[in-house]
Amino acid sequence: MTRFLWLIFLLLITGTATAQTAPERYPLIPYPASLTPATGTFTITKATQLALPKEGKHFEKEAEQLQALLRNGVGAPLKTTKKLVANGIELRYDASIMAPEGYRLTITPQQMTLAAKEPAGMFRAVQTVRQLLPATIEKAGKSAAPMTLPAVQIEDQPAYAWRGMHLDVSRHFFDVAYIKKYMDLLALYKFNKLHLHLTDDQGWRLEIKKYPKLTEVGAWRTFNNQDSACIKKSKDNPDFALEPKHLRQRNGQTEYGGFYTQDEMRGIIAYATARHIEVIPEIDMPGHMMAAIRAYPFLTCNGKNDWGKLFSTPICPCNESTYEFVENVLKEVAALFPSPYVHIGADEVDKASWNTTACTELMQKEGIKDVNGLQSYFVRRVERFLQSKGKKMIGWDDMLEGGIDPSATVMYWRSWVKDAPAKAIRNGNPLIMTPVSTLYFDNLPDKNSLGKVYDFDVVPAGVDAAQSQKALLGAQANLWTEQVPSENRADYMVMPRMTALAEVVWTNKKQYASYLTRLRQHYPRLALLNVHYRVPDLAGFSEESVFTDKTSLQVEKPLDNLIIRYTTDGSIPTDASPVLPAALPITQPTTVKLVAFTPEGLRGDTYAIRYKQQAYAAPVSAKAPAPGLTATYFTGYFKKSALMQQAKANGSTTVTSVQVPKQAEADQFGVQFRGYLDVPETGIYTFYLTCDDGGTLRLADRIVVDNDGLHSAIEKTGQVALTKGLHPIALDFVEGGGGYMLLLKYSKDGSEPQQVPANWLKH
Ligand code: ACM
Repeated sequence: MTRFLWLIFLLLITGTATAQTAPERYPLIPYPASLTPATGTFTITKATQLALPKEGKHFEKEAEQLQALLRNGVGAPLKTTKKLVANGIELRYDASIMAPEGYRLTITPQQMTLAAKEPAGMFRAVQTVRQLLPATIEKAGKSAAPMTLPAVQIEDQPAYAWRGMHLDVSRHFFDVAYIKKYMDLLALYKFNKLHLHLTDDQGWRLEIKKYPKLTEVGAWRTFNNQDSACIKKSKDNPDFALEPKHLRQRNGQTEYGGFYTQDEMRGIIAYATARHIEVIPEIDMPGHMMAAIRAYPFLTCNGKNDWGKLFSTPICPCNESTYEFVENVLKEVAALFPSPYVHIGADEVDKASWNTTACTELMQKEGIKDVNGLQSYFVRRVERFLQSKGKKMIGWDDMLEGGIDPSATVMYWRSWVKDAPAKAIRNGNPLIMTPVSTLYFDNLPDKNSLGKVYDFDVVPAGVDAAQSQKALLGAQANLWTEQVPSENRADYMVMPRMTALAEVVWTNKKQYASYLTRLRQHYPRLALLNVHYRVPDLAGFSEESVFTDKTSLQVEKPLDNLIIRYTTDGSIPTDASPVLPAALPITQPTTVKLVAFTPEGLRGDTYAIRYKQQAYAAPVSAKAPAPGLTATYFTGYFKKSALMQQAKANGSTTVTSVQVPKQAEADQFGVQFRGYLDVPETGIYTFYLTCDDGGTLRLADRIVVDNDGLHSAIEKTGQVALTKGLHPIALDFVEGGGGYMLLLKYSKDGSEPQQVPANWLKH
């Protein structure tokens, strides 16, 4: 046999000619800690029997949950038995599975066994089975597909104990039904913590029996500037409209709001508990308290309830009446929530109002030096109270500033305070990672955000493995909802990013290509669950495109079943716009707008591709230019990079790559990079400029990328036609505070984006 025929023969006998890869055959997210593929399949039919363990009621709930899931596929509950039979499923108690939430799943063509010691492990196993079943299982009456699972051996357990998602229900309110939907997603992706941000300046969302005005007054507001911004955006995107169900009419005015009664919260908690999810309440204090102060003005030091430079007036740590209030509130919270934790926020406090006589007296009495010390005094006192109720306290990392006790759990969010995680660990504090830079899901998603979340390293810089083993609980993503007024928008912001985080915190192994392959199979499931996920990005073009003579637009679809529609008249494509052909000829300057639609009618983001016609820019000559670019830096607050032109430079240096020079690293600054780009070949170049905050790129006196303004890390791209040789480059970058990012890549003729080589930079 020739080698070729031998190969064909091999493919035929093994069936691998059509075999799926492991990520296709086992589209599990998060991927199990250990998965051994096996051949064959197991099919569940009406005749399949379910064996429950001898150990009585151990997995009764999980058995019900599995039955509920399978009922969608087979129409009726499976018959239960005591002993595993052929064509049977078994839930097995296995005391040797020691890891919390650990389980084993064995599927052969004859049988399926789910084994665990704890109900939580069994629940996670059921979710794995769920993801191996056809997506149609998610909806009753949908199941035309056979209930077939691929044979496999899985031994699984989570990498981290804290796998969280947060939801801010204060800025915009989300009702009980939505919280349940959110938890369904947490359960599907093996999260185990739901952090509810229940109170803030914009609304108090939890009934407190002792203080009814907290919700009578504090849960309602007339439209604020966040609402107005959303209403304005809703003209172009209906997901920004406020949910009508959260509006009411009072005294001739429309009010926005809502809250959970304690009974409703008990319902949420029961729903969570059944899914082995812990609900952590956050009552943010002493700042972020305007809603409470509106109801109970005695809470501040100076009787005022207004905004300081950045943050609102906090409650007063110097009056006993404040502690009486706080303790009464937390007493009810501690009794209501079974979680061992209560989160008290302790972030972003404007301490200017803490200058009353009572404060001076308290400081003298307690030997407190400054207002940061007052904050620490408050936090410590509240922590002691919570401890007296059997609870552990969590707070944001701001509370490290005046000093805290090692018993407090720190939630790290301020990415720009780089040493805070290491400081917390040195101080002995348990730590949960939720850095703004990656895990704030209110940051607008773009084509890079999924990869960025996936790449997230839970272990912070400056912390070694032994330290993190002890103190690092895990990670969590936060969804702040100032700009998230609707359930559809919340879905869009978290999904699919939360699936990437799920794999980070459960599997903690980087296998991005495999993850993306698996994720593709989750979209139909999410659609059946009525999740308004963010449609994955179209690719293969730059939004600022350039052609010299003619070109054609060829778009790469991330999912085969997407239908891309387009316009060339400036209007936003609708589901009635023409379908984009495989190659759309471009012969004159134009703007093509694209929107992808899923078969279920979800619409993706709108892309505008602006085609400019350019001649190749002629190179300039420079006598023996030196390597690198000149970087001139400015300290100051620049909302736009052009504002640097009126400012006085603090200095100038040479950089050998596009990166912020050390000298510029103030809290707020700008940098102008100048020199030449020495391109090795004539062609149309694409540049990718990622900035946090803003930046602009000009080449050969042509604007190539405009990524200006103050924003989180966003990549923008642009093209320019360049002749081989030197071209003037002007790259401006501004940082408005809060940690920066600057990254410039290029590609040519459809190559993968890559770093601009150092030897292209001259000055
Ligand atoms: C926060 O984002 N202020 C914790």
